[in-house]
Amino acid sequence: MKKLTMLYEGKAKKIFDTDDKDYFWVEYKDDATAFNGIKKGTIQDKGIINNKMSAMLFTYLQQNDVDTHYVELINDREQIVKRLEMIPLEIVVRNIVAGSLAKRVGQEEGYELASPVLELYYKNDDLGDPLVNETHALAMGWANMDQIESMKKIALRVNELLTHIVGKARIYLVDYKLEFGLSEGKVMLGDEISPDTCRFWDIDTKEKLDKDRFRRDLGKVEEAYVEVYTRLKEVVEID
Ligand code: TMP
Ligand code: ASP
Repeated sequence: MKKLTMLYEGKAKKIFDTDDKDYFWVEYKDDATAFNGIKKGTIQDKGIINNKMSAMLFTYLQQNDVDTHYVELINDREQIVKRLEMIPLEIVVRNIVAGSLAKRVGQEEGYELASPVLELYYKNDDLGDPLVNETHALAMGWANMDQIESMKKIALRVNELLTHIVGKARIYLVDYKLEFGLSEGKVMLGDEISPDTCRFWDIDTKEKLDKDRFRRDLGKVEEAYVEVYTRLKEVVEID
């Protein structure tokens, strides 16, 4: 496959066209932003870690019958994915209270939820990705009922699979964000799964091993990304 013109440059990735209309070429960058782009910086080699970690986790999910856009790794920073028609929603899955949920409900970070919480956010940078609910998504035409049900079902299955594997690496999967799209009408998991999009806490020390180190100026950002990837690589079995 050939890498052609750049179609889109996001905050953390560039998307290129390919000579096959069914596929995109994705390049992961070291650029980091937080608070809807207000805080900007660079996390050295983040693009490499996120590209490889996402490829590994998507492969693991696919081997467990989750449909995803992931196709193959090209090199350290690049991968091929299926072209999806993206649904303009972010699905956040939470197992432990942290971040915006801690603020919204006035509960301290670290409270273990009795069951997973699923939240929908409308993907719109100008609005800062506002929290919405299923009836907004339906009424605004962002997704239909079948698609919402599929996203919820896949998100809960992904949660079982990821919680299991992350736990084996002695890490808590606190919360994370998923994005979905359509390929030939079928709902598939897209985007990435990495320390940019998940909160990972060390089970033994409760140390944060994710982008919160950048968001909150905690230091040792690069080290945290490498640590999570190294630990997961040891426990994820890929055929
Ligand atoms: P939140 O607590 O700030 O709402 O974040 C919940 C999870 O979603 C957390 O793991 C980080 C991830 N996330 C993203 O991947 N992108 C975003 O733009 C935001 C706000 C959160
Ligand atoms: N990715 C989002 C942004 O740039 C927010 C975040 O991850 O905190 O601004």
